[in-house]
Amino acid sequence: MYIAMLGRQPAISMAELERTFEDVRWFSHDTALINTDSLDIEQLGGTIKAGHVVLDLHNSDWRKSSMELVKTYYAKWSSVSGKITLGISTYGFTISPRDVQRTGLILKSQLKTRGVSLRLVPNEQTALGTATSHHNKLGLSPNKVELIVVRGHGGRVIVAESTGSQNITSLARRDQGRPARDAFVGMLPPKLAQIMINLAQPQLLKTDDYTPTLLDPFCGTGVVLQEAALMGIRPYGTDISEKMVRYSRENIEWLQEKFSTHTAYTIHEADAMSAVWQQPIDAVVCETYLGQPFSAPPSPEKLEQVVGNCNHIISTFLKNIGTQLRQGTILCIAIPAWNDGNEHFTHLPLIKNLGHLGYTQTEFENIHAKDLLYYRPDQIVAREIVVLIKK
Ligand SMILES: C[S@@+](CC[C@H](N)C(=O)[O-])C[C@H]1O[C@@H](n2cnc3c(N)ncnc32)[C@H](O)[C@@H]1O
Repeated sequence: MYIAMLGRQPAISMAELERTFEDVRWFSHDTALINTDSLDIEQLGGTIKAGHVVLDLHNSDWRKSSMELVKTYYAKWSSVSGKITLGISTYGFTISPRDVQRTGLILKSQLKTRGVSLRLVPNEQTALGTATSHHNKLGLSPNKVELIVVRGHGGRVIVAESTGSQNITSLARRDQGRPARDAFVGMLPPKLAQIMINLAQPQLLKTDDYTPTLLDPFCGTGVVLQEAALMGIRPYGTDISEKMVRYSRENIEWLQEKFSTHTAYTIHEADAMSAVWQQPIDAVVCETYLGQPFSAPPSPEKLEQVVGNCNHIISTFLKNIGTQLRQGTILCIAIPAWNDGNEHFTHLPLIKNLGHLGYTQTEFENIHAKDLLYYRPDQIVAREIVVLIKK
């Protein structure tokens, strides 16, 4: 059993987990329990930390949980040789960072009586930040441990040993480190691209005899293509802009070299409203045209114009590609939705017309499909993530 700490928008992270594992459920509003024997955090874009469950305490509070933790790890480590580095992260308790630190110090002094040396990572907050966990390499070797203590619904407490945090160094490199970037186009964050590819499973599962192909018909600077290549999937990108095609090629060449991936790829110019793509296409993952960027909510007239334009381009694309996909093909697309500044969103009309366009929108067990909106609070243009199946 694993517990996962979900990202800033837990519903999106939960959707990804549901598509990746068979048995997933909420533990608290931003953590999930996963019934699995193994979990590789590098394969997930929406989980910021994960750990395998060591203790499952019913009806517990911080005092009881802390005592159990000390008892368990004193027994476990009292004859360990070599120094242990320990970080403790708690979620869902009303306690201070000092309370967390105190538990670590009690364990440290008890272990000292047995000649075991423990370095405690200081708690500035009740939970260590991803950067602290990642830079201390917590969870990545037997002597560098992060204990995750989470209080969930109904007072149930889970203590888990972290198996690693999101690799922020690699994510930043895949984002800011790329040679060809274009802020105006609005590049997708690599972790969102990873989530979207995982949402298009199972068609993208690689086997020994088959490398699946992922098509991104609005590839821009190629973030989805890069993440696909890293996952061993063959990237196929097209874009209406010659410049973007060049950028995607440059970025994928850079990635192949820096990350030693050698997947064959195809990138060419094409208008998604009329393109005839090469086969096979095993899944489609893209961030479509999002209209122009806005720094403040647009006037109603302007909004109507942008909504109309985006709706036309994206519906025409969906109709065109529908004739070229096998029944059952999954599409995970990010389309625009506009925030009025008060978290009321204007959605594209096509959302209500997916059946007529030839698609079924997939449902999730733990979330509502409409919760898959990715945005920062100050952003006007949100990305609405829609997972479709070709009828
Ligand atoms: C929001 S950007 C995608 C950005 C991309 N995900 C990235 O990470 O760089 C949308 C892209 O759609 C392209 N585009 C706009 N209309 C198009 C069309 N009719 N057919 C194909 N591409 C189009 C634009 O050139 C732009 O690169």
